[in-house]
This record gives sequence, C-alpha cells and structure tokens, in this order.
Amino acid sequence: MGGYEQAYGSWQRDPEGFWRAASEGIDWDVRPETIVDHAHKPMPTWFPDGRLNTCFNAVDRHVRDGRGMQMALIYDSPVTDTVASYTYLELRDQVARLAGALAREGISRGDRVVIYMPMIPEAVFAMLACARLGAVHSVVFGGFGAEELAARITDSGAKAVICASCGIGPAGVLPYKPLVDRALDLLDGEQPTCIVFQRPEAPAELHPGRDIEWSGLLADAPVADCVPVAATDPLYILYTSGTTGLPKGIVRDTGGHAVALEWSMEAVYGARPADVYWAASDIGWVVGHSYIVYGPLLHGCTTVLYEGKPVGTPDAGAYWRVIEQHGVNVMFTAPTAIRAIKREDPHASRIAEHDLGSLRTLFLAGERCDPDTLRWASESLGRPVIDHWWQTESGWAIAANCVGLELLPVKPGSATKPVPGYAIDVLTDDGEHAAPGQQGSICVRLPLPPGFTPTLWNGEQRFVETYLAARPGYYWTADAGYYDEDGYLYVMGRTDDVINVAGHRLSTGQMEEILASHPDVAESAVVGVADAYKGQVPLGFAVLKSGVDRNPEQVTAELVTLVRDRVGPVAALKTVAIVDALPKTRSGKVLRATIRQIADGRTWSVPPTIEDAGVLDSFVELLAELGYTDSSAVSA
Ligand code: COA
Ligand code: AMP
Repeated sequence: MGGYEQAYGSWQRDPEGFWRAASEGIDWDVRPETIVDHAHKPMPTWFPDGRLNTCFNAVDRHVRDGRGMQMALIYDSPVTDTVASYTYLELRDQVARLAGALAREGISRGDRVVIYMPMIPEAVFAMLACARLGAVHSVVFGGFGAEELAARITDSGAKAVICASCGIGPAGVLPYKPLVDRALDLLDGEQPTCIVFQRPEAPAELHPGRDIEWSGLLADAPVADCVPVAATDPLYILYTSGTTGLPKGIVRDTGGHAVALEWSMEAVYGARPADVYWAASDIGWVVGHSYIVYGPLLHGCTTVLYEGKPVGTPDAGAYWRVIEQHGVNVMFTAPTAIRAIKREDPHASRIAEHDLGSLRTLFLAGERCDPDTLRWASESLGRPVIDHWWQTESGWAIAANCVGLELLPVKPGSATKPVPGYAIDVLTDDGEHAAPGQQGSICVRLPLPPGFTPTLWNGEQRFVETYLAARPGYYWTADAGYYDEDGYLYVMGRTDDVINVAGHRLSTGQMEEILASHPDVAESAVVGVADAYKGQVPLGFAVLKSGVDRNPEQVTAELVTLVRDRVGPVAALKTVAIVDALPKTRSGKVLRATIRQIADGRTWSVPPTIEDAGVLDSFVELLAELGYTDSSAVSA
C-alpha cells in the first residue's frame, strides 16, 4: 500500500472508486453494480444491489481456497487452564452444524437471536451460525444483569436466546443461567427458545419445555449452507449506552461491514492473511465483534479468544505469555489493561521473561489513552503502540495511525489522523471550524463510510435526533477534542452522559434514573470522575425525600446494590454520597460538569447562574473528604 496521504487523497477524489476497489476483497453472490445510493439521505446505502454471506466470507471461502488446515481460532483460557484450537475446516464444520440445528428450531433469515455467553469458542460459533443463516445476532456482554438482558431481548424481538451456564472470572464461577432465567421471567408475551451450553464448572438447571441443552440440540443436526442476503440486511444489533436508561440498538449492515473490516485489517492494522491477530477484549463489545470475530476471520488470520484478564490470571505477565505461546503478530487491547499491568509490574520485568519477537504492533482503543501509559507500553515493548479512536456506532476506526498504509510519527495523546473514509471537523459552539489547539465538538462530515451504523434498531427517529440533528451535514460523535498544527486529532472526552469505565461504555443518566427509583430518594446525580486505573469511575449523589430519617450508610449500600442488580456488576458504582442538596443553576440544571472538574482537581469556577453557592462549597468539602481531590488545589 502507498502512503497515508496518497490513500486519503484517493478516497477524497473518488470515494465510490475507492470503495469499489475495497469491495473486491469480498466474495459476493451478486456483485454490486451500485456502490452507494444517496436516495435515502442523510444516510447512504452501501452496495444496495449486492448479495453476500458474511459467514461464507469469514470461514468457508478460506476452506475453498485451500486454507482449511490453517488455524482459524485459538481459545486460550487461563481461568479453566485450557488451550484449544480450531482450523478453518473445523470452524466451518462446527458453525455449519450449529446453523443446521438452529434452522431446525425455526431460526431463519432476519430472525433475531440474543447471545449471552462468556469468551468461549461456542460464542463465536453462535455468532457465525446466525450470520450463516442470515439471522441477526445481538450479543449481550456478560457483565450486564437480568434487566439489561431483558431490555435487549424485548427490543430486538429475539426468537431465541443462546447462553452458557456460567462465565468464569479470576475468583471463580459467575453464574449466567440464573440471570437469563430472571430476564426471561421479566418478559411479557411469548418466551424465546433458550439454548444452554453447559460448562462443566457449573452446569445449570434447565427449564422443561423452554430450555434446550446445546449438545442435544446438535445431536443429529443437519449442516446448513450459507444463505446469501442483501448487503443492506442487518448482520447484527449491538446495544450500547446512550444518555438514558434505554439502550441504543446499533445496527450493522452486512455488505458495508464486510468491506470496511476487510479493508481495515491491512490498511489500519497492517495484518496479513495467516497472521495471528489478538484483540484482548470481549465479544460483548464492538471491539470483540469487529476484531475478535469478523475482521481477522474475513482476512484469513488466526484469531485468539482469551478468557482471562490482564492481571490476576495468574499475573501481570499473562498478555506476554499469550503473545509468545501463540506467536501473536498484531495485538489490540484497551488502555486500562495496560494500566492494570503497569500498576503490578511498573518496571516491565514480566515482558523481559518472554520472547515477543512475533509482535509487530500493539493497538489501543476504547477510551482515551493517557500519554504516560502509551509511552510506558512502547518503551517497554520496543514497538509502535498505536492509539486509535472509534465507537460502537462506527464499527471500525475513525481516526488512527494506519500502519498498513504508512506508520506516521506517533504523538502520545493523539489518535493521529482521520482514516480514509472519514472527513472529521472540530467545530466550536457557533458551528465554526476550531483553530488548531482549540477544543470543540468532533463531528464527521456526511455521508458516512461503509460499516458505519445506518440506523438504530426500532429507532430511526432517535438516530436522526441523537446523531444528525445537532450539526446539519454532520454526524455528531459526542466526543470533544482538537487538532494540532500538524493535523493530528486529540480526542479528550465525551460531552454527554456516557462514561468509559475500564473500557466499558456506561450511561450515568441510566444510573441516575435507577438511584431516583429508590423509594427514599428525591433526586440524584451521577458523574464520571477520573480514575488512575479504570480511566473513569461513576460517583453518585442522592438527596433523600423530606421526612426520611434513615442511616445514610444503609441507604448508600442499598443504592449501590440497586445499580449493581439493575445494570450488572460492570456498572462499578461503589460510592453514593447522601447529601442535603445538589448544586444547581437557577434554572434547576445540576452542575455535573463543575462537580467533575472539582473531583478531577481541574480548574473550575463558580457558574454565574448558580442557585446557591453554599451548596457547591459543601460539595468541595465532601469531594475532598471522599479523597477525590484536595479542595485547596482548585481555583475559583
Ligand atoms: N461476565 C460476568 N461478569 C463480568 C464480566 C463478564 N464478562 N466482565 C466483568 N464482570 C464483572 C466483574 O467480575 C466485576 O465484578 P465484581 O465487582 O463482582 O468484581 C465487575 O464486572 C467489574 O469488572 P471489570 O470492569 O472488568 O473490573 P475488574 O476490576 O474485574 O478488572 C480490568 C479491571 C482493567 C482488569 C478489566 O476491566 C480489563 O481487563 N479490562 C480490559 C479492557 C477491556 O476488555 N475492555 C473492553 C473494551 S475494548
Ligand atoms: P464504545 O462505543 O464502547 O467503543 O465507546 C466509544 C467511546 O469511547 C468514544 O466515543 C470515546 O469517548 C471513547 N474512546 C474510544 N476510543 C478512544 C480513543 N482512542 N481516545 C479517546 N477516546 C476513545
């Protein structure tokens, strides 16, 4: 590939020609004549007359092309002390059999299937089996609880739920099936079929007449062929946090997704077929969808599925052991994982214990990467460490250092430059282009490239209102940042209620709603405050109803449990302070940004519209007591 400027320029000059060339990387049942259709503005329709099957492209075509004996999937699970691998041929057989079994249960093109499974090969088989049939999967991250799961089953209208009996964390078994049972109990109307993969560590009780055990399902099942679908058919729905409790169903279309991911593997990641590619994320997140499952398999790589943590399974050398053992060439993880390793092994002595000769590049995304963490990783590894920026909505990188095109100089703290396909502007509050160094809203000029969500499931109007209404002609990313003089983009943080906790995207708005649902709570606020380990953590405040005279510690404990139950353990809300009042403007808006600035030890000032400055003073003291900052360190 040529240089970055050359590729970006060729996309700018002829976007259709650019994506037509990229579409050659995919096997089509019907090759698209039309590359993009702008008739349904504001969103483009990519490859509208093309037909293809994503599972065929990710699995079968590699077998057809003589790569059946190449490793497709390596499962490495320190928590069960297991390493297993599957060739492309074995993967094809597993997936075709499961697809046949699902078809026998009545699952067909367009049906929705919710997958609630930990990081085990069967989760990948289940995703690919859905894709094989043209069914639409919706994977729910295991750290979410029963209510979140129920909301996703309901919104997607799932005909089946595929789950495992349990996950396994460093501390042992995490039962999944009881949560699924609770979620199914919460549903109104018809119950979906529930398919249960029994793990020997904790087999689950089955519900007669509703639950089907995985091995029984597969017994005597026929194999199913790949079903060609329209490029515009949805491949999956992935729910992500928005500003309210109602999750947003990000829809991924089939054709644009396959083309964009296949192109990205080489151009962004510099990955070649047969390379070993490891995204240490979770299949419940977009990074897992794109770069544990679809991207590496579309490109004919070997993908690593790791059921473990960066630390504690068993130690801070775990990642380096996996790289050495499986000859990983390209790795991808979240900055928080590197911070976790650095905290336990600051001098990187664990790295020296392993031969990391295979590793070419480490990519980081999912949250802002602080420059210290990036420097530590690149100095310790002696290789390029690349921060790149994207969202569940985009499905692949929006800004990156595209090493497959050209490794540009790395500037810690920057996601580097727009990826071909994306025109990114930083806009001021007045809608003007921000000057270099001036922070503003990061917006992507329409039309959006292939792979980007074309809409929200059951939420066409919400899609337009959330993303397109704020800045006509643009997709509003809800991230703030700036360009430097060299055109490098710095993504600094969200401007909405979304926070990133250990790389997990969560909604403070949703947590506020849950706190407010407690019978003793009059009003509440949750803000994301900086955390040296997890990047951000939520911090809650609650005002009790007048007349409620209860032990504050007890109420706090109930509120923490309530959020953990309703969202799931991943919410990580540990502190909820009971306060007399929340600091507000005269129009009644809670001063969340000011609370965050104080907690983070940043410069802040008393807003001129404040209702009662005394309330804010008491928050300064409270935050200092909670250990978030020294109140004397801030300037008013
Ligand atoms: N299934 C069930 N429970 C899960 C889960 C899963 N898949 N993932 C997390 N949880 C639970 C954890 O057990 C924990 O519960 P606890 O409060 O009872 O201990 C809680 O959710 C919070 O988990 P987590 O945010 O992962 O925090 P942690 O302290 O256990 O680990 C890190 C911190 C940094 C080691 C961990 O978050 C990590 O490895 N991050 C890597 C980044 C990543 O994968 N990001 C995804 C996007 S790229
Ligand atoms: P998710 O949809 O879970 O991938 O989260 C997307 C959000 O994570 C973005 O809107 C950003 O706020 C944040 N994010 C992801 N990658 C980066 C990055 N490299 N730098 C800064 N923020 C990031």
